[in-house]
Amino acid sequence: MPADTLLARAGELLAENTREAVFNGRVYRFSIPAQERYRFQWFWDSCFHAIVWARLDVERACDELRGLLALQAPSGRIPHVVFWDETLVSRTGWHYLESPGRLGWFLPGSQPRATAMIQPPVIAQAVEAIVERGGEAFLDEALPALERYYRYLARERDPDGDGLISIIAQFESGIDFSPAYDPKWGATAPAILGLAARVPEIVDKLVDWNLELVFRFNPRHVEDVLVNSVYADALQALARLAARRGDAQLEEWATATGRRVLDALLERCYDERRGLFFNLNGAKERRADGANTIISLLPLLLSDLPTDVAARLVEHLADPNEFWTPFPVASVALDEPTFRRDSRVDGSRRIWRGPCSLNTNWLLSLGLRRHGENVLADDLATRSRELVERGGFNEFFDPLDGTPVGAHRFGWATLAAVI
Ligand code: GLC
Repeated sequence: MPADTLLARAGELLAENTREAVFNGRVYRFSIPAQERYRFQWFWDSCFHAIVWARLDVERACDELRGLLALQAPSGRIPHVVFWDETLVSRTGWHYLESPGRLGWFLPGSQPRATAMIQPPVIAQAVEAIVERGGEAFLDEALPALERYYRYLARERDPDGDGLISIIAQFESGIDFSPAYDPKWGATAPAILGLAARVPEIVDKLVDWNLELVFRFNPRHVEDVLVNSVYADALQALARLAARRGDAQLEEWATATGRRVLDALLERCYDERRGLFFNLNGAKERRADGANTIISLLPLLLSDLPTDVAARLVEHLADPNEFWTPFPVASVALDEPTFRRDSRVDGSRRIWRGPCSLNTNWLLSLGLRRHGENVLADDLATRSRELVERGGFNEFFDPLDGTPVGAHRFGWATLAAVI
């Protein structure tokens, strides 16, 4: 299919998933990830939607992010989900659990507007994509908010000051049920995985997301490799955006902070023996020595990653027994015992345990190009487009035969049109 036809189809899907909401007298427009399951606005989904919108309609791309910025907390945090449609918020689901306030759950009439959590901080890259497509004026609006956001992450999400930020629930990682977060005793029954994921959130909720208490009482916080790779890359984008505005102080801070994240990833998360990066778990920051998942590959995104380290990651990525399946990139290495082709495990939805997703394909294709691996990047782009041309813009795909799995008509799959 010609590239512009695919892009036009991507636009149709994002338009079909567009919703409007009024907040403080102003109308916001955004695309929900999918009509069948995800009917709110999600942070990193909207950042990816904005990257695609920027190719089609720059003003619409700005709108996609305005809805997120409208809900920025005084601390600078931007929520991971905004509950624009209040009729869909349920007391029995995760909506109250993941939101601020302990008592609201029990008080009639009180409703959360957004969660108390974060997602991989890819918004600086989205703003840069908008600026590069002619949306320079948006920077006046966005730059102060970005500065507050990234300073929040550096100040409040890095209690030990090593440069790496922590997530306090695995749903902050964006890679929800990756085996990288499996409980350390190794149980993988869906019910146990579900419970193990919720327990840290219950602790966070009990202390009302007060980060000082969270870091004291929630033992399952993680310095996550994917989150920190996206963060380090975002800081470089932020530095470039600050330079455009002549803000030397912000440029310097973002450059130095990004550099520290990369140094810490190399020093603390890199397992030289395996040639892979692993998360640091809990207050003792034990480096995981477990499942080989897509998370381990994401430092490839960083152009300053030393060449020999990048080469080791590319070896894993390009290995057909690990990630380079017929439809790459598998979210868990094929030779891992936890690998599954589907996003359901024993009948329950447990995503990110093998199927391929277009947002990680997009991030890794950028990484491959940054490290001169254009042949692999082109191959990944071709196979990504083939996936959506055959199976539609789907949430996930079986990495062995390309069958679409998970939600249909899914927003970030449109990245295939710009990969
Ligand atoms: C799932 C994904 C997460 C995404 C959300 C909405 O929870 O794991 O990354 O943001 O769905 O699409």
